[in-house]
Order: sequence, then structure tokens, then C-alpha cells
Amino acid sequence: MAEPVKLGIVGLGNMGRAHRQNILDGKVTGLTVAAVCDRAEALPEIREGEAQFTDASEMIKSGKIDAIHICTPHFLHSPLGIEALEAGLHVMVEKPLGVHVADCQRLIDAYEKTGGKDGTLTFAAMFNQRTNPLYKKLKDLIDSGETGEVRRIIWQVTDWFRTEYYYASGGWRATWKGEGGGVLLNQCPHNLDLFQWLFGMPDQITGFASFGRYHQIEVEDDVTAYMRWKDGKNALLVTSTGEAPGVNRLEVTCERGLIILEGGKLTFRRNRTETSEYSDKTDLAFGMPETWDVEVPVEEGAGGQHVEILQNFTDAILHGAELISPAIDGIHSIHLANAVIASAWKDGETLNLPIDADAYEKELIHKGETSTFKKREIDPNKKTTAADFSKSFR
Ligand SMILES: NC(=O)c1ccc[n+]([C@@H]2O[C@H](COP(=O)([O-])OP(=O)(O)OC[C@H]3O[C@@H](n4cnc5c(N)ncnc54)[C@H](O)[C@@H]3O)[C@@H](O)[C@H]2O)c1
Repeated sequence: MAEPVKLGIVGLGNMGRAHRQNILDGKVTGLTVAAVCDRAEALPEIREGEAQFTDASEMIKSGKIDAIHICTPHFLHSPLGIEALEAGLHVMVEKPLGVHVADCQRLIDAYEKTGGKDGTLTFAAMFNQRTNPLYKKLKDLIDSGETGEVRRIIWQVTDWFRTEYYYASGGWRATWKGEGGGVLLNQCPHNLDLFQWLFGMPDQITGFASFGRYHQIEVEDDVTAYMRWKDGKNALLVTSTGEAPGVNRLEVTCERGLIILEGGKLTFRRNRTETSEYSDKTDLAFGMPETWDVEVPVEEGAGGQHVEILQNFTDAILHGAELISPAIDGIHSIHLANAVIASAWKDGETLNLPIDADAYEKELIHKGETSTFKKREIDPNKKTTAADFSKSFR
């Protein structure tokens, strides 16, 4: 493949524009924006060397691009991704990979029938939080055996506060038809991806959700999910877009003690002896293993985020670099999100994973088609500023 890789961006809203700007600013080596596609009124000012399209199929077939970055609302990720893969393009999909499992599976099947078969196409997803040094370090501690077996996870991630204005400003947002869900499909996919990346997939889920508890929306904005693994490991995940200031606190109870990730710090309350070994061997009825408080050294800052994922995508296309965030992983966070919502629809019935993907798709479509819900309206002339939006990059 000749350098630079010619990228087409579809969807020039908040995210598509931010990626384009990063590339125009020269932050990604070996990648150029060769084309952009959106509604005519949403396209940026014409730039030399950048073709403009108002029809994504035309851009895909144009011969002007080697790769596509799909930055449209979620429901289009899968159909556009399939079309692009079938046209022989490398594909980067914004998170989430799709809206429901069947949708993601169709996209993955298309990859496996095209460039996935012989490794000729790169297929990545924008899970930029995988570049955050805190999560990388935690993964390293777990995978290297430093923590011992993980026993319980409690993740309270309620610092995704969103205003009524935010929900009203994007017609597709927070509707069954346009977005396919709320906090689990828009804000939390990052956390759900990290969750499965760090701890693997649970076997059972019980989900509780309030639909429109804090906002005038029809989808979930407050969620509590309990997850269980066959080996007894369990997890509690709490998320919301209605709490301020909110908190992002991850507690991992493991054989070697307790890890707390909060406020940019990774603290390990490390037991000198593994907990079960201590319990087994000690003859003290009320003994406790000796515990050391360790502040684990972690690289400063938030990591390379979107730029690092795009650079990695480019390096994978040009030089075969291993992907940080392969798109096929993206189906796992959707399994989690769909299972929590499906359980909540059934008043907290415990569901085994994987849930019935076809039944979920049918129910979701039904909810979208029969919805009569009206979101709050806003002045169409008021626009969220780029600076405002950039605060939400996490
Ligand atoms: N990785 C991250 O950190 C991150 C952050 C924010 C958003 N996102 C994801 O990016 C995607 C877009 O979010 P956003 O906030 O930029 O939304 P947005 O509403 O600001 O932008 C979406 C754009 O897509 C365009 N569009 C819709 N249908 C189209 C079509 N058929 N062809 C061409 N363009 C079309 C719209 O006109 C709009 O300009 C979402 O899936 C979201 O989850 C990711």
C-alpha cells in the first residue's frame, strides 16, 4: 500500500470533524484525508486534495480512498462497514460497533468473508480508552498474574453527566430508533469494552435500568447491572448520565488484595500472602493477611487516545502492526449492553449470555417503530461548540 493511506471520513459531526482536524494538524503519520461525506450543509469548507460526497456509497465506490472512518450515528456503522469491506476498503468504526448483537455479527461476517479471510484488510474500532495508561497498567497487573485471580469487580461510572440540551441537540440521540439505547450505547461503550478487555465476558446478567429517569428521553439514563461468571466471580456496574459530579471508581477484589482506580490513581492494597492461602493456613480465628498500600506507578496523562488509535490503524495498514482495538472485539460490549437492557425490559430477570440476538433485534425495532415519544426541542440555531464537545472525549 502506497503511503499516505487515503482516508474517507463519513459523518462530519462532532467526532468526524475532530478526527479530520487531528489528521489535518499532522498528528497521524502516513494518513491523509482524501474524502469526506455528509449532508451538503454539514460538510466542511472544501480543501484542496479532499473530495466531497453527500452519498456514502459513492465515496466508497469512488476509487479515491483506501480506508474509511465511519463517524455516523450508530445504526449506520454496520451497513456502511459492510459496504466498505465488500468494496475492499480498510475500515475504522466509531464506537459502538453497532447497536445490537445481530447488527455487529453481520458486520463481522462481512469482514470474515472479505479481508478477514486472508488478512488483507484492516478492521478496527475507536476504543480509544484502551490507550489510557491507567487501564493498560491494570490489564498488565491482571494478565501478568500480579493480582492473582479476580474475584469481584465494582465499577461505578456515573461521571457521564449529560444535559437536556445535549439530548435535544442530536435528533437521533437517546431514541430506540435513532440510537438503540442510552447511556449503555453512547457513553458507556468505552467502559463496557474496557470491562470485557480486562475481565472477560460474564455468563449471566441481571440488569436494572430507569428509562428517562433524569432526562426527557425514552431510553436508559440510569443503570445497575449485576454480572456473574461460572467460577463465582461477580461484578456490579453502575452508570448514569444524570448525576453530577458523578464518580468513576473501579474496585477490583483479587486474591492479592484490592485494587482501586479512581481520580487518575491506581492503588493496590496488596496482601503479602494470597487471601485464600492465608485463610487456609493460618490458625488465627480473626487473622488478616499483612497488607501493603502500593501506589502503582502509571505513565502521566490520558495516553494517545483517538490519535493513537488512528496511528495504530494506519500502521496496521502500512506495516502490519498489531491492532490495539480490533473491531471484532466490539461485539462483546454490545452483548453486555443488550443483555442489561433486555433484562431491564423484563423487570430484572436474570439472563444467560449470549442472549437471543434475533429476538432482541425484533424487540428493538418494534420499540423504535411504535414510539410516540417526543424529546425536548431546542433552538436549531444554537450549536454545541467544538470546545464544549472536546470536553466529552473520554
Ligand atoms: N470514540 C469516541 O470518543 C466518541 C466520542 C463521541 C462520539 N463517538 C461516536 O461517533 C459517532 C458520531 O457521533 P457524533 O457525536 O459525532 O454525532 P453527530 O450527530 O455530531 O454527527 C453525526 C454526523 O453523521 C452525519 N450523517 C448521518 N447520516 C449520514 C449518512 N447516511 N451519510 C453521511 N453522513 C451522515 C450527520 O449529518 C452528522 O453530521 C457515534 O457513533 C458516537 O458514538 C465516539
